Amino acid sequence: MAIKTNLNNKTAIITGGSKGIGWETAKLMISDGMNVVLISRSEKLLQSRLDELGQFRRQIRIFPCDLTIPNSTEEIAKYCFSEFKVIDVLVNSAGAAKGGIFSEILDKDWEDSFNLKFFGTIRIIRSVVPYMKDQRDGRIVNVIGDTGKKPNKLMLPGSSVNAALLSLTKGLAEELGEYGIRINAVSPGPTKTERIVNMFNSLAKSTNKTIKEIEAEFLNENIIKKLADPKEIANLILFLSSDVSSNITGTTITSDGGRSKYI
Ligand SMILES: NC(=O)c1ccc[n+]([C@@H]2O[C@H](COP(=O)([O-])OP(=O)(O)OC[C@H]3O[C@@H](n4cnc5c(N)ncnc54)[C@H](OP(=O)(O)O)[C@@H]3O)[C@@H](O)[C@H]2O)c1
Repeated sequence: MAIKTNLNNKTAIITGGSKGIGWETAKLMISDGMNVVLISRSEKLLQSRLDELGQFRRQIRIFPCDLTIPNSTEEIAKYCFSEFKVIDVLVNSAGAAKGGIFSEILDKDWEDSFNLKFFGTIRIIRSVVPYMKDQRDGRIVNVIGDTGKKPNKLMLPGSSVNAALLSLTKGLAEELGEYGIRINAVSPGPTKTERIVNMFNSLAKSTNKTIKEIEAEFLNENIIKKLADPKEIANLILFLSSDVSSNITGTTITSDGGRSKYI
């Protein structure tokens, strides 16, 4: 018997929904019968994503905005509710952090990393929770990253943000649980998206290595010697959004090709 996700006609807000892991999640959710509101800065790219999925237009809304602007998240929640009358799922997949050697990372780079992924996540959770509380149902999935538990010396701003989000995910689960809201996370290892290609390029420049050498270093610790496919991460996000995971909250599921060596 097929596993029942019970996601048909449910509605998700997906930050970072125009690219990489967020975009793969959007396609998967749409094919499972869900409505999605895609959030990112580039209106042009969001519009072309909408065109790409023309036959599913009824299920898709786009909302271009910069998540580092404090009030943007309230507008997102209001928009989703006005369009679909419900906010069942929130997927936080927007993120970008400057990599490089510690001494070359400026205060501004640290601030930018926290402002988008950490404070952006906090603000949008705060904005959707009142709707989810009224419904007495909601599922939040944070896309974090394996560097949260195992910091990478060349990615310290991102590693620090990820560690903070692991704590947020665990700590908030208890408060939200009594309202029927579950909050979980996925922690990918290196995943083949535009973001990692850009990161390999900049690390190659700052360390005087080739991109191939950087990729080999990243995969050195993997048991499964490949970059993750963003679809593999999207599948986990769908699982954590669905009724299949109805007994799971405050948990982070790692998908890193076996690179984490802790229990
Ligand atoms: N790829 C990996 O290897 C990997 C590994 C571990 C964890 N992760 C985490 O997974 C998440 C997704 O990564 P990805 O690889 O899918 O990244 P990606 O392909 O670069 O996509 C990032 C998304 O975030 C949006 N975004 C960036 N800045 C934004 C802002 N200020 N406001 C609103 N939207 C913004 C981007 O669109 P615009 O640029 O148009 O705004 C895009 O849609 C990130 O949090 C990342 O840290 C990724």
